[in-house]
Amino acid sequence: MIPETYRCVVLARYIDGLPGPDDFAIETRPVPTPGDGEVLVRNIYASLDPGGRTRLSGEASYIPPLSIGDIAGAFNIGQVVASNNQAYAVGDLLAGAFGWSEFGLSDGRGYLAKIPDWELPLSTWIGVLGVPGLTAYFGLKRVAGISAGETVVVTSAAGMVGATAAQIAKILGCRVIGVAGGTEKCDWLKGELGLDAAIDYKAVDDLGAAIDDAAPDGVDVLFDNVGNRFVDALLPRMRMNGRIVVSGQVGDYNLASKDVHGIRNTRVFITHRVRMEGLVVFDDIADFPAAQAEMAAWIKAGKLIYREKVYDGIESAPQAFRDVFQGTYFGRHLVRMAPIP
Ligand SMILES: NC(=O)c1ccc[n+]([C@@H]2O[C@H](COP(=O)([O-])OP(=O)(O)OC[C@H]3O[C@@H](n4cnc5c(N)ncnc54)[C@H](OP(=O)(O)O)[C@@H]3O)[C@@H](O)[C@H]2O)c1
Repeated sequence: MIPETYRCVVLARYIDGLPGPDDFAIETRPVPTPGDGEVLVRNIYASLDPGGRTRLSGEASYIPPLSIGDIAGAFNIGQVVASNNQAYAVGDLLAGAFGWSEFGLSDGRGYLAKIPDWELPLSTWIGVLGVPGLTAYFGLKRVAGISAGETVVVTSAAGMVGATAAQIAKILGCRVIGVAGGTEKCDWLKGELGLDAAIDYKAVDDLGAAIDDAAPDGVDVLFDNVGNRFVDALLPRMRMNGRIVVSGQVGDYNLASKDVHGIRNTRVFITHRVRMEGLVVFDDIADFPAAQAEMAAWIKAGKLIYREKVYDGIESAPQAFRDVFQGTYFGRHLVRMAPIP
């Protein structure tokens, strides 16, 4: 049965620094009736994405900033409950981008994909097989073009993007060093994920020296999720024709631009022909299905492991978002809003 109202989380004020519950408000709105060509979706999961942080300060990301009162952005897994769009039937399970909201309305354009019946948990389609996992896949395969035998460093290696990148690099025959905060995360990276080394950046005074110990011959690929402080420390360690993949800047998103660490060690771009390139995962959208098929096979074979931290109820989204930046938990952070069908 479709209820008369639903809840969503909206931006209450532009955020300065670490986000928190006071920056958001929970609103109750009438459930809309789909018009011509539209589909109404009941959301089961919403994601907590650190990359959505800049839009919450009124700054543009690769998509425009949010205004006060807008629903906070997120990716979702949902089920169609009413449809006037021939491409989608009631009962279809979809991945989309409706935000922190119990319901969403779509005209079928933008990011909306039916979930194949591959006998994997629904949450994987918003995590390891969704935007974070695909960022790892295309960042390594297309942007870095990694080859077996290369040395790869991954930062925020216990996060969903980082852990997926680290494991894909292992699967493809690389030597992989993960950088993460805390013993528990580093033990997981070395133990369960089988990385060659893990560095607890919170426990070392000099990250560059720790990289020198773990990779005495240098680094071929840096897959960076954290930002300039780590990039600058890694630059002098890059080998000839090294590549730096700028996936994200979770360590910089809460800082004013004047406070972001500068990148000084740039001479290596010339001396070692190093390349640094960012990506927006949706540039590769045409190739998502093939990548998802390859990664699903790795998951089923036990080669690609993922972790999730699931919060219950839309009202938990603001605190869950704060937790993302504090590193309290690890793996994909999700809010569950409806039972899994
Ligand atoms: N380019 C794209 O298309 C695209 C798409 C999706 C995501 N991304 C980016 O990918 C990155 C990872 O995303 P994710 O969803 O997997 O999140 P994530 O890596 O799990 O992010 C949260 C983690 O970041 C680490 N962190 C937070 N503040 C830090 C700081 N100041 N210094 C160092 N580490 C810090 C914490 O781990 P520790 O406990 O280890 O410090 C925390 O658990 C993000 O930067 C995101 O923006 C890019």
